[in-house]
Amino acid sequence: MAQQDTSVVTFFLNGKQVEIDSPPADLRLVDYLHLPEVQLTGSKKGCGQGGCGACTVVLSAWDTAKGTAQHRSINSCLRPVAALNGLAVTTIEGTGSVTSEMNPVAFSLAKNDGSQCGYCSPGWVMNMTAYMSANGAKKPTKQEIENIFDGNLCRCTGYRPILEAMKIYASNWSPDDQKNLMKCLIDPAFKPAGVDSEIELALPPSPWGPEAPLAFESDGYVWRSPSTVEELLSDISELGGTSNLRLVCGNTSVGVYDY
Ligand code: FES
Ligand code: FES
Repeated sequence: MAQQDTSVVTFFLNGKQVEIDSPPADLRLVDYLHLPEVQLTGSKKGCGQGGCGACTVVLSAWDTAKGTAQHRSINSCLRPVAALNGLAVTTIEGTGSVTSEMNPVAFSLAKNDGSQCGYCSPGWVMNMTAYMSANGAKKPTKQEIENIFDGNLCRCTGYRPILEAMKIYASNWSPDDQKNLMKCLIDPAFKPAGVDSEIELALPPSPWGPEAPLAFESDGYVWRSPSTVEELLSDISELGGTSNLRLVCGNTSVGVYDY
């Protein structure tokens, strides 16, 4: 690897810079968030295998060519901390609360009876938050909204109130849909600050990044993050061929079974 490679993973968590020297390659973001010294426990660990969506957070990258941030939802149970270098993570805590500016999606979920035990709720909210942040003023249809939630499960509330809480943001949400909403059980006078505003992610000042290559060893694992195909091939050759290596991308196989 080139000389400038480093062992320090640098990323932003709810707008604040975090630096971790040589994190274990099997340290997942959701487990890091739950550490006593971090205490961001809003993202839940349901399955730990990318199947339930309870651990969803927003991952943002600075796109230098477009001069803007790109946002998407990810399962934090599958994301190694080592794969966060140069990126920005927003958890449910970073989108507000009833004591500050509340995330409008979270309020919609509460207002439309879309949460019972609440274990899955942060995942639904953050998936919709990522979608709305990524698409700006472009409103999805009701069907498109339903489609983005194919990775979110709820074991107790039932999907009608959850999806209705999300579909009120649809371009084809109609007066009849509004009339047929389930009866709101919270005090109609309760309206926290921020619920009529645009969603705001807790991001660092722009621009941020870039994602520098990493090369380090930790807990018996070697981690490399090549940024070109040539570097990848060089790493594979140096480390003894593909039979000794796991390629971590979506991490839906290695991340589920073992390291
Ligand atoms: Fe279920 Fe992450 S905990 S998808
Ligand atoms: Fe209980 Fe969804 S509200 S799992």
